[in-house]
Amino acid sequence: MVSFTDTPWVDGGQLVVAHRLRMWYTVRPGLFSKPRYVKAVDDVSISIGRGETLAIVGESGSGKTTLGRTLLRLLKPTGGELLFDGRDITQAKDSELLWFRRRTSIVLQDPFSSLNPYHNVKFIIEEPLIINGVSPRERDEMVHRALEEVKLTPVSDYLYKYPHQLSGGQRQRVAIARAIVTRPDFIVADEPVSMLDASVRVEILTILKSIQERDKIAFAYITHDISTAKYFSDKILVMYAGKMAEIGPYRDVIKEPHHPYTQALIEAIPDPDPKNRFSERKVVGGEPPNLANPPSGCRFHPRCPFAMDICRREEPPMIEIKKGIYVACWLYVKR
Ligand SMILES: Nc1ncnc2c1ncn2[C@@H]1O[C@H](COP(=O)(O)OP(=O)(O)OP(=O)(O)O)[C@@H](O)[C@H]1O
Ligand code: SF4
Ligand SMILES: [Mg+2]
Repeated sequence: MVSFTDTPWVDGGQLVVAHRLRMWYTVRPGLFSKPRYVKAVDDVSISIGRGETLAIVGESGSGKTTLGRTLLRLLKPTGGELLFDGRDITQAKDSELLWFRRRTSIVLQDPFSSLNPYHNVKFIIEEPLIINGVSPRERDEMVHRALEEVKLTPVSDYLYKYPHQLSGGQRQRVAIARAIVTRPDFIVADEPVSMLDASVRVEILTILKSIQERDKIAFAYITHDISTAKYFSDKILVMYAGKMAEIGPYRDVIKEPHHPYTQALIEAIPDPDPKNRFSERKVVGGEPPNLANPPSGCRFHPRCPFAMDICRREEPPMIEIKKGIYVACWLYVKR
């Protein structure tokens, strides 16, 4: 088993392991100008076990989607290591990744644009099985089962419908059925409920949870809304500007957040009591930084109410605050 002494919160024996993962986009502001790097994922280390969910939270532009796509090797990391089921796939070529593609899938935010409007539900769900050479009879059974699992029943009512004939919640169920039909081991769900009405969000998250528990699927659940993570998260990674701010068991982090940014995210969760609910409130004052030119030291320092001199100069190390909870903040470093 691989073990990483410099990132003790990573369990090298788990299904998905990322060690000091980097995904920097290269951008050229002009034809003849030097390339610049957008440091969207910078030194991120996580692991996810079978049947476990890691929630990845942070505001817009913090690198969540980039991390999710890199974990699925839809993007090639520009640094660090990525292991799946013990195999190093960091730099594997597409042709070497067929086995990995078969064992992974993705659920996207917008169920309308992610489903082909010209295909019916049956074809949308069975397409990955056709690609994998599954026989028509087996395909029928598997599509049927997937539709039952996402509670689109009676199945015959849905098989020949087209995406425009379904509600947003039903479309997202179809997207989930497509993601699970190949029986993957690892799914990245990128904001799967953020475009749905509040009333159907819980239904969709409950379906994801039951699938995860029964099939022991590892999930990366990406959300900018920390409150939706409670339905099925075991661990949580809080990202700020491409960096890890805090990681630990979900319940512990939510109950007692340590990083000033996590604290601000949790304070911003609206109160369920309408009397106490505030309207649009910013997570914390100021804007997220430009990742082509991020702030020195701690990337959160321009917005942090506790910023000290060292925060502007040096990047904080990850410190274990309590068992299993790690935070990147100078406030907790004994000096
Ligand atoms: N193809 C790309 N080329 C250059 N920069 C990119 C590219 N895709 C994303 N970025 C930049 O990388 C950073 C992280 O983007 P990403 O989409 O991963 O964030 P996110 O946390 O998923 O945001 P959101 O909540 O809005 O979906 C942003 O600064 C974004 O502008
Ligand atoms: S390291 Fe400094 S700036 Fe960064 S979160 Fe901690 S106190 Fe704030
Ligand atoms: Mg995103």
